[in-house]
Amino acid sequence: MRETVHVPLGTRAYDVLIGPGLLAESGTLIAPFLKRPRVAVVTETRVAALHLEGLRAGLAQAGIDLVSLELPPGEATKSWAHLGQVTEWLLDQKVERQDMVIALGGGVIGDLVGFACAILRRGVRFVQVPTSLLAQVDSSVGGKTGINTAQGKNLAGAFHQPSLVLADTDVLDTLTARDFLAGYGEVVKYGLLGDAAFFDWLDENAPAMAQGDMVLRVEAVRRSVQMKADIVTRDETEQGDRALLNLGHTFCHALEAATGYSDRLLHGEGVAVGCALAFELSARLGLCSQEDPSRVRAHIKAMGMKTDLADIPGELPDAAALLELMGQDKKVVAGTLNFVLVRGIGSAFVTSDVPREVVLGVLSDALA
Ligand code: GLY
Repeated sequence: MRETVHVPLGTRAYDVLIGPGLLAESGTLIAPFLKRPRVAVVTETRVAALHLEGLRAGLAQAGIDLVSLELPPGEATKSWAHLGQVTEWLLDQKVERQDMVIALGGGVIGDLVGFACAILRRGVRFVQVPTSLLAQVDSSVGGKTGINTAQGKNLAGAFHQPSLVLADTDVLDTLTARDFLAGYGEVVKYGLLGDAAFFDWLDENAPAMAQGDMVLRVEAVRRSVQMKADIVTRDETEQGDRALLNLGHTFCHALEAATGYSDRLLHGEGVAVGCALAFELSARLGLCSQEDPSRVRAHIKAMGMKTDLADIPGELPDAAALLELMGQDKKVVAGTLNFVLVRGIGSAFVTSDVPREVVLGVLSDALA
């Protein structure tokens, strides 16, 4: 039950391995990349308690030693302060250009450690060991790294591809149901943006996958990663097609900002709600049939996920204020809001040609 997705980026090509038991085999898998049998692992305390010993044991099987740094969990760790801390710790550990760093954790750790590796000695190789579903299907693949600044999320960063990704699907068992489903928001996004057959497959199989079926989990992660790898290979630095991966994200970022990036709305939950809104907007613009948004909403609801704005606890600002927050999204180009819209399930495209009043109408009705 082991799958490999190759990301063919020339001199930066790498494999994403997907399946159970990868932590236990990490030593054998990472050894070919090492010039000396020692790695530096950066993780966070919650993940360390669950998985650091498993990684240590796996590496020890191949005689590889590890030193580790544990950071606090949570989005606030993606900061200048922690970037400095990680970079200087790696220097203190005498990590050299030929060495390998391991990012063990979810999207926060992957983004932060990847960025530290991009700037450390002008570029040190790293392995992503993603421990959340969201990180396995999205943030660990494709080389986007970075931190948040006072001005917004992910505003400082670099493209720095990992040398290997180990997506151990056993670790998904340790996620809360809410975190698993938040990650699922990014999985369903792939079906919605580019693969109607994958969406149909999810409609049939996602409930059993969420219940823990490992064969289905491996398949869902594989298909998601394959689609991301295909898009990143076409457009590594997001000059065009890569923006398709932002389906639902313009709405999502406004909702995340409106809820203070708090526990009220996890990123993947916002992506699912945002996808439903993007489909509604597309239907209102006559781009897809009215049935499509209904199918999307029915699927998300059946998975027990937040679907409508009313599912987000607490007050939300009015439609005009949400639209204003959408304007602050970093995908704004020369003041124009770029949207990912759809011509149907599995058929997304990027446009800036969206009348403000139609977006306002979608938001007002969604808030009503
Ligand atoms: N998460 C979107 C991207 O990697 O481009």
